[in-house]
Amino acid sequence: MAMIFAKPSMRTRFSFETGFFLLGGYAIYLGPDDIQMGKREETRDVARVLSRYNDIIMARVFAHQDILDLAKYSSVPVVNGLTDYNHPCQIMADALTIIEHIGQLEGAKVVYVGDGNNIVHSWLLLAAVVPFHFVCACPKGFEPDERTVEKARQAGISKIEITNDVREAVRGADIVYSDVWASMGQKEEAPYRHQVFQGFQVDEALMKLAGPKAYFMHCLPAERRVEVTDGVVEAPNSIVFPQAENRMHAQNAIMLHLIPPILMLAHWY
Ligand code: CP
Ligand code: NVA
Repeated sequence: MAMIFAKPSMRTRFSFETGFFLLGGYAIYLGPDDIQMGKREETRDVARVLSRYNDIIMARVFAHQDILDLAKYSSVPVVNGLTDYNHPCQIMADALTIIEHIGQLEGAKVVYVGDGNNIVHSWLLLAAVVPFHFVCACPKGFEPDERTVEKARQAGISKIEITNDVREAVRGADIVYSDVWASMGQKEEAPYRHQVFQGFQVDEALMKLAGPKAYFMHCLPAERRVEVTDGVVEAPNSIVFPQAENRMHAQNAIMLHLIPPILMLAHWY
């Protein structure tokens, strides 16, 4: 497997590399300076060359168009390891974690608190196929992409709410979910965002409003004392570490789906 990283990573790199090894495969990491996709080398050329050495490509990129171009020109499966638009492997791991902790995702109330970002888009796309109650509570002007919200609503599968009222949003939540206020590629906006996002920190008082059954989730890395307090991350109802572990199990299932097991076995001999 070729793993292309245009952005930093801990979980995605380790979970894919370790997971693929456990399946009998071998993964090669290519960091931001190795390929310089789109600068040193055209994306469509990267796809066609790497397809000839690899059975699968995983990529973490900035522009979503880059992952679409890789998929278009690659002759082997391409897995999205996060783009500016979405993070599907994360949400597959999150769904697995919710199933493990509350039995099923169907019917659960998942309340995301923070920026309407790539994580939210993946939640919305999941809500278009699995029925649950998804709420995104974000500051005005930081709502998720309208077309993605519309797509999820039009699927008619889940109850979808986008609101600026975080206190009302969390009531009765099964899951309160947080992510950084400034994503990779937006770090220079962090000081401004920290001001605008005041009131959207997940703290003990907000978890209390959510109620006793609420679990806390975060895709990590977490900026403690910014979008979440240290106490909430460390509380007994925080499931951020099983959530991180599940990246590997969910992705292994995805890779086994994409690469027939017989091919994996072939690499052992
Ligand atoms: N959650 C996640 O994707 O973490 P990394 O950025 O460390 O890969
Ligand atoms: N929204 C975050 C997710 C990190 C896993 C980012 O894109 O930086």
